[in-house]
Amino acid sequence: MEKKWWHGKIACQIYPKSYCDSNGDGIGDLRGIISKLDYLKALGVDLIWLSPVYRSPFVDQGYDISDYYEIAPEFGTMEDFDELLREVKARGMHLIMDLVINHCSSEHRWFQAALADPEGPYGSYFYFREGKDGHAPSNHRSYFGGSAWEPVPGRENLYYYHMFAKEQPDLNWYNPKLLGELYDMINWWLEKGVSGFRIDAIINIQKNTAFPDYPADGPDGLCAPGVVVENASGIGPMLEDLKRNTFQKYDAFTVGEVFNMKEEELREFIGEDGHFSSMFDFSQHLLTSGEHGWYEERPFCFGTWRDAVFEAQRKAEPIGFLSNIIENHDEPRGASTFLPDYAQNDAGVKMLGTVSVLLRGIPFLYQGQEIGMRNCRMESVGEYDDINTKDQYELALRMGCTEQEALACCNRMSRDNARTPMQWSDAENGGFTDGTPWLKVNPDYRTINVAAQERDPDSVLHYYRRLTALRKDPRYADTFTYGRFEPAFEDADGQIMAYVRRDGRNRILVAGNWGPDRAALSPDGAVKELLLNNQAELRTDGEGRIVLESCQAVVLLLA
Ligand code: GLC
Ligand code: CA
Repeated sequence: MEKKWWHGKIACQIYPKSYCDSNGDGIGDLRGIISKLDYLKALGVDLIWLSPVYRSPFVDQGYDISDYYEIAPEFGTMEDFDELLREVKARGMHLIMDLVINHCSSEHRWFQAALADPEGPYGSYFYFREGKDGHAPSNHRSYFGGSAWEPVPGRENLYYYHMFAKEQPDLNWYNPKLLGELYDMINWWLEKGVSGFRIDAIINIQKNTAFPDYPADGPDGLCAPGVVVENASGIGPMLEDLKRNTFQKYDAFTVGEVFNMKEEELREFIGEDGHFSSMFDFSQHLLTSGEHGWYEERPFCFGTWRDAVFEAQRKAEPIGFLSNIIENHDEPRGASTFLPDYAQNDAGVKMLGTVSVLLRGIPFLYQGQEIGMRNCRMESVGEYDDINTKDQYELALRMGCTEQEALACCNRMSRDNARTPMQWSDAENGGFTDGTPWLKVNPDYRTINVAAQERDPDSVLHYYRRLTALRKDPRYADTFTYGRFEPAFEDADGQIMAYVRRDGRNRILVAGNWGPDRAALSPDGAVKELLLNNQAELRTDGEGRIVLESCQAVVLLLA
């Protein structure tokens, strides 16, 4: 396999609005991020992914871009951005941007021009269609609820298409003129020196532009956007063209946000000559989200979860590198989701971090994960900001949930769980801002915060630093990056999440005990060295087996 500069890197996602507010307006900003670069460096981060910082009306928190060449004034200026980029590089790190190109904001000048003259040149940057029999052109539902078609104001029987909010019109990828504009923009950022992109909602660019109806899957008579995507085809050549005209010329790192991919396409997506460098593995997240909405959310089940992680690893190993996450800005906190009640403690959080970061692939931490931030309980739906959460709350009510039940499923599933401000200290607002934070700070900041964990050598934060250092230790780095992945103890009473990473040089066992009771294990080979342990000691029993306490995680170098 040809080695690439990004293979052994550790990434961290920053959600700028909630990271650090430098000027007291309650909104995180670029200068705030600059002030925390040493912190990120010390955490072992090599690659920083910034969620969108472009100009935006923030209907979907910056995923609705109104100018791809400008920084949102809420976050600062282009000078601030340039300084951030310089400072990132000065520390030997890389910056990657969020690339949101399935849609733009309805306030983007392209869309404004299109609305003014749908038959004119900008009309074909988007999808305008005539309605059918007094209805929308098709029965597609948008991801955020309601029809994917919005009537064009002032025009009878004319609609435009939006897979997300109505303020996020889909861009017409079958128009070469538009593609030229997008490619120029991407190359402009690469010229500036960003190292690549996280590519948003990219599977949605392929469309059946006849927009046929599909069978309804709910009382609204509409069909899910996932079905629409699965019935479209032709994405391969589109992504190749994108890659050849942009990323490839700069040896950029790209990580795709890909849902609803056809399984047999994995090689085309992330193989040696794949469309992307990597793509996120969402298989564990799909387990808990309900089929038709959050009201159908499913509880965490250890066995199903472990199988899903193993399965994704098995499939990717001969092909390429997945990007592994436990949470992001669209998912609830991993510590709240993937740990049972009795594991809701520092040991549990460290255990989850251990087995996640040492998987084969690119580890992507999410801000606050390294201190074990948890879901934030909101007392009423009014405390939520997220457009998706509001829709899911209403949907739950329509499907017969009580207000209390609807709120409870938002408390578990809401995207705002991960978007609450970063908890830097036990000062007011968690030290995130001197002003009024744009979104509630999780009240647990008094106990879960960076400052307290800096002082405590046993904290989750210090543990994460040891964990990332281990992954990059020159003695083991190649094993963790390129080594094989082999599940271990799959049948040991069903509570052990364990695997071996192995190459010609090392055999390393990673094991965590998810069960409420201790478990004794016989590793396949003598233990040469204890590389990492989330507890003070590692016991062995009379028969020479290692004994893992509940929530204990260890990394062992085997003979
Ligand atoms: C992606 C983003 C999400 C956003 C959506 C629309 O899924 O991660 O936050 O709402 O795309 O851009
Ligand atoms: Ca600010």
